[in-house]
Amino acid sequence: MKHLYPILMFVFLSSMLSAQKNPNLAKTPPMGWNSWNRFACNVDENLIRNMADVMVSSGMKDAGYEYVVIDDCWQVSRDKNGVIVPDPKRFPSGIKALADYIHSKGLKLGIYSDAGRFTCQHRPGSYGYEELDAKTYASWNVDYLKYDWCATQGIDPKLVYPKMSAALAQSGRDIVFSICEWGSSRPWSWATNVGHLWRTTEDIVDCYDCKTDWGGMGWTLILDEQVGLEKYAHPGAWNDPDMLEVGNKMLKYNESQAHFSFWCLLAAPLMAGNDLVTMSDSTKSILLNKEAIAVDQDPIGVEGSKKYDDGDFEIWTKPLQNGDIALILFNRNKHEFQFPVDWSWAGINGNWKLRDLWQHKDIGTTADWKSFAIKGHSVLFFRLSKIG
Ligand code: GLA
Repeated sequence: MKHLYPILMFVFLSSMLSAQKNPNLAKTPPMGWNSWNRFACNVDENLIRNMADVMVSSGMKDAGYEYVVIDDCWQVSRDKNGVIVPDPKRFPSGIKALADYIHSKGLKLGIYSDAGRFTCQHRPGSYGYEELDAKTYASWNVDYLKYDWCATQGIDPKLVYPKMSAALAQSGRDIVFSICEWGSSRPWSWATNVGHLWRTTEDIVDCYDCKTDWGGMGWTLILDEQVGLEKYAHPGAWNDPDMLEVGNKMLKYNESQAHFSFWCLLAAPLMAGNDLVTMSDSTKSILLNKEAIAVDQDPIGVEGSKKYDDGDFEIWTKPLQNGDIALILFNRNKHEFQFPVDWSWAGINGNWKLRDLWQHKDIGTTADWKSFAIKGHSVLFFRLSKIG
């Protein structure tokens, strides 16, 4: 028996090593659109095509949005060979035809499954079908998989996520792997070589600071849970605070603007979650803010973090390429206040040029500004460049 140990060890180690993600993807946080926040199960191929069309015509594609992701409910059953079957009423042309259409627009297609026996909407999950499903998605030319965590009683995430990751990496196609395990087993501590992004919390809901009985949260509560996770993010491996609610019903303009600013500062995946076809000009002005997106997509890939918090007033910063710094001043309270700012609270010394990323203009230097009036539930979002 003893002489078998080295062999068993070798087999175990090589299976661990091969259970690694495709290392060449998501060097900056993935950007795109996902159907869930706005449409839930009400998805079909026409909707997905329309979203792809608008992603191009609205300028989103030029701004960097790339993945069109169909979330839950596209699948209905498995055939006699175990192959997953798309809903024939909602996706009569099949997923491959949809992928071809999306690719003809210069975009990429994402799809959704679940590490358990069922998806969260009780559609077939991938448990026990990981390799077959990865091969099927690759044969449909799918580019991105969001992999959920429902119906997983008794299943170890540290085994099943690597299993799907390896299956995707070996599928012969570049497929981004988005782990959606809600942060339950602290995936930031084990998923660096498994996924390109991992959800850090329960689902976002369309509000500023509400909490649902099933654990859904408004974006400010999700923001609070990102504190301390920044050290785990880097190019190819991102914390995912969930998809955007910008342009949905409940957030006011300034709240949406603040939500988007923070997701950019966090180097979060930017997955629009609204109806792109009917979006207003003000929603567009948020989703298409290229200076904000440049903060999110900054090539050094450092996630921003909180530097100051007095309960109502917070300061967050994110280091950028060339020594620039992105900085958010956040008034969490609903009333407007004049906040004194000592730049050293954010670790900023010396004189820096201040560019306002929502007004799109330079507003002087840090030496010029000792306080700011900030409306309730709003941010000021700056890019700082060192002078001299
Ligand atoms: C879970 C996920 C959501 C969404 C739904 C779909 O709740 O966290 O993002 O994918 O399932 O059923």
